[in-house]
Amino acid sequence: MPGIMSEPILTEAQRRVGVVTLNRPDVLNALSLQLMDKLAGALEAFDADPEIRVIVIAGSEKVWAAGADIKDMADASPTRMHELNMFARWERIKRIRKPIIAAVSGFALGGGCELAMHCDIIIASESAKFGQPEINIGIIPGAGGTQRLTRAIGKFRAMDMVLNGRFISAREAYEFGLVSRLVPKEHFLAAALNLAHEMAQKPPIALRLAKESVLKADELALSEALEYERKLFYLLFDTEDQKEGMAAFLEKRRPEFKGK
Ligand code: CAA
Repeated sequence: MPGIMSEPILTEAQRRVGVVTLNRPDVLNALSLQLMDKLAGALEAFDADPEIRVIVIAGSEKVWAAGADIKDMADASPTRMHELNMFARWERIKRIRKPIIAAVSGFALGGGCELAMHCDIIIASESAKFGQPEINIGIIPGAGGTQRLTRAIGKFRAMDMVLNGRFISAREAYEFGLVSRLVPKEHFLAAALNLAHEMAQKPPIALRLAKESVLKADELALSEALEYERKLFYLLFDTEDQKEGMAAFLEKRRPEFKGK
């Protein structure tokens, strides 16, 4: 189809699931500024769409994303980098409130690994490879890699990856706690979509608040985070979905959640 190959991302709404596919195969889905702009815009549109409850970001079977586009940065000065403000797009992705599932196969490197870590659940195919190889091109991770990776897998494994640029296999990533579920290569996308459709049956407000609460674990001290969790817990008793969920349990029927 004309034009499709030149679109850096493709989007599709599958009932209650919004799917974004990274689509720069010639450069291993390098995350150009244009791609990141469109990705942030697509995620925001799904976040604002009342029909959509869960979002999936997918790459291809061969590659999730090989990092920021090195061509965008190779000759840049610090002032130019400041002007480009590339991390503004990442901040927008961080603010998405609906759950995002990453469907990762092949390389997830540099900004690619960081993009997966901006998601909430990572489904990885057995062929996935994760790495923060920025050290090999004279920089360090800039979209949160040194922080989110360290929180996910611990200081010593993170140092091994960030200082050496070592790639880890999907199995290692799973064992280290970077991956939520490891699935056969042939099924990685179906597994992510099935999970998304399953989660889309759940009460949407509770889904959003659950995400918000888990993310506080990285931001707040334990006592503050527990207090925060409790306030969100109380808040949900103001939703119709809480009444429906508990009534359905007691009446031994399936709940019908409306997102109210
Ligand atoms: N940016 C721009 N182009 C890229 C790219 C990137 N990050 N990664 C791959 N490409 C391009 C290559 O230049 C090549 O293009 P040409 O065909 O025009 O030469 C094409 O994609 C295919 O790549 P390779 O020929 O290198 O494929 P390979 O299978 O031999 O190697 C690879 C695969 C190991 C992933 C290798 O491409 C690679 O090391 N890529 C760069 C990984 C990297 O350093 N990522 C970090 C980027 S910086 C960053 O992300 C900063 C941040 O924190 C935000």
